[in-house]
Amino acid sequence: MKEKLLKKFAELFGDADGVKVYFAPGRVNLIGEHTDYNGGHVFPCALTIGTYGAARKRQDNKLHFYSLNFERAGLLESAADDLGEAKESDWTNYPKGVMWAFAKRGFEMPCGMDMVIFGNIPNGSGLSSSASLEVLTGYILRDLYGFDVTNVDLALIGQYAENNYNGMNCGIMDQFASAMGKKDNAIFLDTADLSYEYAPLVLEGAKVVVTNSKVKHSLVNSAYNQRRSECETALAELQKVVDIKGLGDLSEEEFEKHKSAIGDEVRVRRAKHAVYENQRTIRAVKALKNNDIKLFGELMNASHVSLRDDYEVSCEEIDILVDEAWKIPGVIGSRITGGGFGGCTVSIVKDEAIDTFKEQVEKAYEEKTGKTAEFYIVEIGDGPYIL
Ligand code: GLA
Repeated sequence: MKEKLLKKFAELFGDADGVKVYFAPGRVNLIGEHTDYNGGHVFPCALTIGTYGAARKRQDNKLHFYSLNFERAGLLESAADDLGEAKESDWTNYPKGVMWAFAKRGFEMPCGMDMVIFGNIPNGSGLSSSASLEVLTGYILRDLYGFDVTNVDLALIGQYAENNYNGMNCGIMDQFASAMGKKDNAIFLDTADLSYEYAPLVLEGAKVVVTNSKVKHSLVNSAYNQRRSECETALAELQKVVDIKGLGDLSEEEFEKHKSAIGDEVRVRRAKHAVYENQRTIRAVKALKNNDIKLFGELMNASHVSLRDDYEVSCEEIDILVDEAWKIPGVIGSRITGGGFGGCTVSIVKDEAIDTFKEQVEKAYEEKTGKTAEFYIVEIGDGPYIL
């Protein structure tokens, strides 16, 4: 990978002297979906796939971007002092958004840079290719310009850029998982105060399998932003009767007691998901620590049902993948992962059942949708690093 990027860099910019190559990972979330903007817990892990970037400072203030994934777009140019706001929708809005967000924090780039990137996360799969590009950019800026920021800051800056430059109102999970990833560990993060703990993912005799539906329904961002605002309204309604900062502050019992304060049936279901999913996540991590993988899997399954019925962020294709997975003995748990409306499922599958899982799910999915699913056995990797 390093050679490929350096070769392209030299081709575009004359030579690759002093160029470094960096990497930031994508993520998969095991449980705790749509809780990260509700002050709840999440349990994601960083992947070994993500985005690679070769970068070097320039003498002038120009910014040059080139992506080996979008070669047809060619070499794109901007200026470090003219980031303004996201213009046409091209991939450079992610790195530019991060540069803009750094400047908002008082970290102005003293000069421009050249950057060549390549990502190996399948596009639109919901495995956080954009968060990995944001964290990668922040990591490069810190290294090249010596900006004094921590990895948690890199996550926050990436999220700020995504929210305010790219107009996607995401929570902190994806950027946090990318910036703070740790090999073989999942991250138990409390999004209410960003306290976190690493939990070794020990699944004796089983593996985490991600299944890509290869569908991404349109309007994902607007549906996501809508869910978020429904939760905010429900929270404001609940705050009239109970003293809470976020939906994550409520237990299931407290929610049931106060839910009549929410003035609309849809919002009750949205808030219910946020509250119950948060409690499921806390319970799931406990189960994992007690080596109770069976319970962990049951909680994953319950998470899917709640995302499908109450939060309504699943879709036909994803439900087929999950239903088929549930039929197979040896599947400990299976659910949609990420923002929803397509993308991937995450399943825990016993080693001896993995081949059957792939064959049966692939066959049924193809029969029912005409599409070919893809399977990846997850390897949990580290946060960003220099190659
Ligand atoms: C997307 C967002 C995250 C999170 C998930 C749902 O991936 O970027 O912040 O809200 O959806 O859990």
